Amino acid sequence: MSTVKAFRASILHFTADPAMSDKAHSWHEDGLLVVVQGRVLAAGDYDRLKDTLPPGTQVRDYRGKIIMPGFIDTHIHYPQTDMIASPAPGLLPWLDTYTFPTERQFKDPEHARGVADFFVKELLRCGTTTAMVYCTVHQESVDAFFGAAEAHNLRVAAGKVMMDRHCPDFLQDTAERGARESEELIHRWHNKGRNMYALTPRFAPTSTEAQLAMCGELARAYPDTYVQTHVAENTDEVAWVKSLFPEARSYLDVYDKFGLLRKRSMYAHCIWLDDEDRARMADTGAAVSMCATSNLFLGSGLFDFAAADRQQVALSLATDVGGGTSFSMLQTMNETYKVARMGGTYLPALRMFYMATLGGARSMQLEGTVGNFVAGAEADFVVLDPKATPLLERRTTRCDSLEELLFAVALLGDDRTVAATYAAGAQVHQRGE
Ligand code: GUN
Ligand code: ZN
Repeated sequence: MSTVKAFRASILHFTADPAMSDKAHSWHEDGLLVVVQGRVLAAGDYDRLKDTLPPGTQVRDYRGKIIMPGFIDTHIHYPQTDMIASPAPGLLPWLDTYTFPTERQFKDPEHARGVADFFVKELLRCGTTTAMVYCTVHQESVDAFFGAAEAHNLRVAAGKVMMDRHCPDFLQDTAERGARESEELIHRWHNKGRNMYALTPRFAPTSTEAQLAMCGELARAYPDTYVQTHVAENTDEVAWVKSLFPEARSYLDVYDKFGLLRKRSMYAHCIWLDDEDRARMADTGAAVSMCATSNLFLGSGLFDFAAADRQQVALSLATDVGGGTSFSMLQTMNETYKVARMGGTYLPALRMFYMATLGGARSMQLEGTVGNFVAGAEADFVVLDPKATPLLERRTTRCDSLEELLFAVALLGDDRTVAATYAAGAQVHQRGE
């Protein structure tokens, strides 16, 4: 019996950054994606590949739709699912009023499992197949999340929040306990199936120097784990960090001093950095997770694409739910586009789809594993319907170029645009079911 599966549709994927190369993307109007044992065997023109299929191979017909790699959301908080769209005048009051009380509930494993299950399904409804995820300070929240991701065989990174000051007692750990529990979780979950561990100091204000130092030691001891945190999101937060760490050159420098800038380090927001910070990120291989809907919602500021590009910092896109207002990476592209415009940068749709796929994979050091359709990559993909709504249909039948088509899908699309989602070759979401 053949284990080969094939999918016929228009196919888009990237092998380079469209900002750096004219030959960054592959587009096959009538394309075929061939999958064997959960991995990509080939992606190309239907006419070229159809005769290579073993006799009897079932070809799933998605003609009229676009298959592309599953979206990669490089910064999202699963425990904040139930508090998305909570009003507050800025980051710090939002954390105190909504975030901390909501996160308290994740000590209860049953609650954590219920939210994790909903959260993972919501990612899949939106076509997101890889995410870097914050849990809460509780180990139970991490077990629940990895369990839910494993149930759908998703490639994810996640970790327990470390937070030993400036938070309510019910969410506070200690430097020692945070490190010990993180290390236990690394042994329990890192590289188990498709799960990967992320050391997760919440942000500099909620960790003592002792905690950041212990986190840095873990980051050195386990170099293939991730580090995820927030930096330079909000001007009040930046001023707070300056008062807490007066000897640091900048907010980013606090993390740098503790060895937390390295490959596989993901920094959310990066709005209020300077050029020295950006150069340091580029030199160390640390990546930016740009969170447009969150930055607009919380009034945090406008990410500077031109400055990031000058220093060639690795860029990826993220929702930052529940500070972000949508799980959809298409909605996120819509807002990203506008943030860039406000800063004088024009972001082509091709570049936004790159950032939401291969750009995310590169930022996570996962090129060749996820993010595109090179042979051997894990077959995570999304089937987008450019006619999903009456307006999308009307607009996309009047497009003169691939760029126009993709731009309309990015600006007008959302979860309704996702006809199906596949993880490692298996269908994990079908619209309408
Ligand atoms: N900074 C520290 N914690 C958080 C959080 O939960 N969300 C956002 N957007 N910023 C943070
Ligand atoms: Zn965040």
